[in-house]
Order: sequence, then structure tokens, then C-alpha cells
Amino acid sequence: MLKDKKIIVAISGGIAAYKAADLVRAFVKKGAFVKVIMTENATKFITPLTLQTLSSNPVFIDMFSLIKESEISHISLAQYADIFVVAPATANVIGKIASGIADDLLTTTIMATKSPVLICPAMNTNMYTNAIVQENIAKLALRGYYFVDPQCGELACKATGSGRLAESSDIIEEVECILTEKDLVGERVLVTAGPTREPLDPVRYISNYSSGKMGYALATAARRRGADVLLISGPTSLKPPRGVKLVPVESAVEMQTAVMNCLADSTIIIKAAAVADYRPAILSKTKIKKRRGPLVISLERNPDIIFEAGKKKKKNQVLVGFAMESEDLIENAQKKLKDKRMDFIVANDLTQEGAGFQSDTNVVKIIDKQGSIKDLPKMGKIEVANAIFDCVKQIRAKSNE
Ligand code: C5P
Repeated sequence: MLKDKKIIVAISGGIAAYKAADLVRAFVKKGAFVKVIMTENATKFITPLTLQTLSSNPVFIDMFSLIKESEISHISLAQYADIFVVAPATANVIGKIASGIADDLLTTTIMATKSPVLICPAMNTNMYTNAIVQENIAKLALRGYYFVDPQCGELACKATGSGRLAESSDIIEEVECILTEKDLVGERVLVTAGPTREPLDPVRYISNYSSGKMGYALATAARRRGADVLLISGPTSLKPPRGVKLVPVESAVEMQTAVMNCLADSTIIIKAAAVADYRPAILSKTKIKKRRGPLVISLERNPDIIFEAGKKKKKNQVLVGFAMESEDLIENAQKKLKDKRMDFIVANDLTQEGAGFQSDTNVVKIIDKQGSIKDLPKMGKIEVANAIFDCVKQIRAKSNE
């Protein structure tokens, strides 16, 4: 998504300025063109040479240096950017932008731009919580400036509290979100993700290798496209997606309760979780001891959550399921699509390289109720998620015809 986007990273003079190097590097790695503006104070914390090397572009500091003979730098930079990222943004720079003061290249360029501006505050916690700073932030937010809140933690000044620059990954996600077209506004998307754990005794469970990556990518993509997103997730090691409500669950029965509680309120339901089909019939209160000879564990069926959801499906709801198969992919997926009353099913063949659990990519076929089969090439899971939402949008468009 950030490939070929033009990003200006504007660095003001706080100790977190050194973290801007990591941010610039990450944007460049994602294929963006990055230019850096620094305040004079920022150059005391990190050298322009570092940023110039990482961005492969000259760094802009001086208000009166000419880019080309005929170009005025703050105007050409203001027009160049698809987005401005002020990171770190000091109390001083936030105050100046909020008050319409433009007395250096950074503040002048921001005032001259029509592109979105994402402000990432970083400062001492007393400064950040100061009512004047908060008023300035509120005023700018009201005017359409975007913010990534600082994190809580130990600050460079040894104080503990809010004021640490947000992590680069959060800033990048916010940029992705701002630059994504909002075509799912008004949709309430429910996504299930990850494996379930079916307890056997206090220390053991039955589970599967699902990483949750596909479900988390769906939640992320939906949020970027403007939907309200609820993610019901079994245990994973993934970071909760930004801007998404996360309901953590463990077992299939817990997942069923969470899904059924929120079903009526959702407009798009995507079941990407790898729900265990069976659970131990008896949950031992104490740790099962080893004995001589084999141990037999009796299993009972778990509820089929999507089947239950299919029975309650309302007219305006779109229900999407997944099928992971190692044989007869299409026939099996088509049967599930019908039995579970899905609008379409996303089928992946476990035998294909780059598909399924753990992987960052997926190779899927999207099969709908009418029998059409869309064969997608190997793609990143976010791209697969976007292809799934494009199909949901096609269903919406057809039902409005
Ligand atoms: O039948 P199978 O488990 O392969 O179906 C896969 C689809 O059904 C997935 O969308 C999965 O999330 C959902 N499912 C479910 N409850 C189960 C088993 C699967 O919702 N107990």
C-alpha cells in the first residue's frame, strides 16, 4: 500500500528524534519515497546525514535554501507529499501549528500543505498532560489533523508516564489507514481468528497450528477501509490490530458465546478462526498422571459456530467462511458453503507452497453461492483480505440493484 507513496517525515527537536531514523527506514523498506524536514533543534539530536542516507534524499532544514532555481522549498515540499508525518512532534511544534505560527521550514510547510498531516507527539509526561498542550491537540484534531498518541512508559527524563513516541509500526499503520479509501464506512465487521484451545486438564490442551494472521489481516484491512471492527480471537502471539475491538477467547465454546452475543449487531461476519472440531469430553480438575500403557481420551463435538450463525443470518448480513483442505478442495468447499449458508467461502489448499497457517501469504480460491470461482495468485494476507472485502462489496452492490 505504501509503495510509491510520497511521505514527508518532519522531525522536531526532542530526544525521540533518533527514533525517526527507524521510521524513515521502515517507510523506505515499504517502497515509499521519503523526504525529511528537520527543525534546527532536531539536528542537535540526530544528524541530517543519517536521515539523508536512510531516505536517499537531501534533508531540508533551512527555510531559504532553494531546491531548484525556480522552486520555493516550503511550497514544493507541501505539494510533493501524499502525507506528512511529524515525528516526534514537540509541545512547541504542536503549539505553533495550532496557533498558525509558521516561523521555520517545518511549520511553514505544514501550513502550506493540503495533504493529511499525522502528528506523533513525544515529550515529558508533565508537558504532554499540560492542559495547554491537550487543548492544542484537541483543536488540531477538530481541524482534521491526525494523531498517534504517545505510549506510557519510562521516558528519557526518567519520569514514568505518557509521552514516549509511539512505535514505528503503529505510526506506519496509521499512515496506511489514512491513505486507504474509506469504502466500508457504516459496516460493522465481525472477524474470528486464530486457533481455539480445548482444555484437557489444568496444564494441557488440544489445539492447532493456526497463527491468526489471516484473521488479523482481515480486521486490519476492514479498519483501514473505514469499518467498525470486532475481532474475536483465540490465543495468538500477534499484536492486536490498531483501532479494532479485540475480544480474546480460548475455547470453541467461549468463541461461540462471544460470536452469538455480537452476531445480530454485525453486518459482515468473517469466520477465519480454525475452530477445533472436538474437545475432551471430560475436563480433569487435576493433572492427568502418566500410567503404564496407552491413554485413551474421549472427545466430543464442538459447536459449529458458523453453522449456527448461518441459521440466524439476516438479509443485510454477509457471511464468509474459510475452508482449509488437503484434498478435493473445491468439492469440499462448495459443500461447506451450502451447508453453512455462507455467501462465499475462501478455500485454501494446504498442499500449496505459501498457503495456510503461519505463512504471511496465502493462495486462495473464492467460491460463491452462484458457483463462480475466483482463483487468486499467491498474495500477502492483507491483499487477500482486501480481495475478500471487494467480493463483499460486489454482493452489496448486487443487492442494491
Ligand atoms: O468444516 P470446517 O471446519 O472446515 O469449516 C471451516 C469454516 O467453518 C471456517 O470458516 C471456520 O471458522 C468455521 N467453523 C466454525 N465452527 C467450527 C468449525 C469451523 O465456525 N466448530
